Amino acid sequence: MAIDVLKMGDARLLKQAAPVTEFDTPELHELVSDMTDTMRSLNGAGLAAPQIGVGLQLVLFEVIENPRYPDVECIPLTILINPVLEPIGDEMEEGWEGCLSIPGMRGLVPRYTKLRYRGFDAYGNAIDREVGGFHARVVQHECDHLLGILYPMRIRDLRNFGFSSALSSGKSYPEE
Ligand code: NI
Repeated sequence: MAIDVLKMGDARLLKQAAPVTEFDTPELHELVSDMTDTMRSLNGAGLAAPQIGVGLQLVLFEVIENPRYPDVECIPLTILINPVLEPIGDEMEEGWEGCLSIPGMRGLVPRYTKLRYRGFDAYGNAIDREVGGFHARVVQHECDHLLGILYPMRIRDLRNFGFSSALSSGKSYPEE
């Protein structure tokens, strides 16, 4: 069941999320199911639990082929719980991002280019991946939500922030 996504300005988006302590419970599976429905119903690339008002360290992301976003690589649906991020190297790159909590806008955000991430799926199975590019960007964006950080807080030059309908670039990236 899709749920309303909280919008920037709601204080719940600024809170630190708590770790999940019990895996493979009906409640956790229902949360994952609701978040997946919500993300897909809005054509988002990712969603973090605090965005639907649940203060737990749970994010999910998925990119399927979409003609609106030709430059974005596909990412299989991933449920990532209690994530730990470790940049690989110091290299960062600027890229366009949008957020389901800030609909209709895009901004140019610096992120680590390569990243190792670890965590658990909803059954408690360990996840350990090394990724780059848009996949690394999505993970950093979603995990920022668990720290109460929204992407505009990371924009270096606010001239690169605006409505996607008005921006000359950045439209072709999904909201997360
Ligand atoms: Ni977001």
